[in-house]
Amino acid sequence: MIDLAFSILAADFTRLGEDIAAAERGGGSAVHIDVMDGHFVPNITFGPPVVESVRRVTDLPLDCHLMIEEPDRYIADFAKAGANWIIVHQEVCRHLHRTLSEIKAHGMEPAVAINPATPVETLEEVLGLVHHVLVMTVNPGFGGQSFIPKCVDKVRHLARLREEQGLGFRIEVDGGIAPATVEAVVDAGADLLVAGSAIFLPGRIEANAREFVRLAEQARKKVLV
Ligand code: DX5
Ligand code: ZN
Repeated sequence: MIDLAFSILAADFTRLGEDIAAAERGGGSAVHIDVMDGHFVPNITFGPPVVESVRRVTDLPLDCHLMIEEPDRYIADFAKAGANWIIVHQEVCRHLHRTLSEIKAHGMEPAVAINPATPVETLEEVLGLVHHVLVMTVNPGFGGQSFIPKCVDKVRHLARLREEQGLGFRIEVDGGIAPATVEAVVDAGADLLVAGSAIFLPGRIEANAREFVRLAEQARKKVLV
């Protein structure tokens, strides 16, 4: 099963509840929430209060992508706000094993992200601990950037490790995921697809999500043949 985690970064914040409902009707199965601090990444977005508001309008899992330094300081706040999955960046976690364990101890599913310049090898010791691994397919910070094809090699590498070690983590991709790039990432082994600008076009949200999910399923069936 391939899941669409729609990124609300590209939504209309004045009508966030309606936009989420439309993406959900179109088949989106998780809400991806991009938390940015202006330090780890150049941009600033939102924090726990927005997660809490989103929690009130949907039962879908909230996939919180923390692009922040010192994520440990905020784990309890995100748990309280109703987050389900917490993604931290490998690049900011000095004690990655501890951070992932803390997320689990707060009743959430831990996940870890790597930037385009970070190799898969840095994650090998924690692959048994995570619910998903997020392979960034752009440099984090902004929506609407171009997909970096080289990152697909890392998706393939992770899929091979998952198979060899009999592990159950999911592989998520984020950045520039759109109808034109879905097939390449699904073929490499990704099964959790983040998409923002490809979904949130005013008036087209539900239709875009439905078409995106259809293409992802079509790509998955091709892999199975
Ligand atoms: C980028 C964020 C992404 C972003 C993706 O730093 O992590 O989740 O919203 O946006 P698109 O799908 O427009 O590339
Ligand atoms: Zn993201």
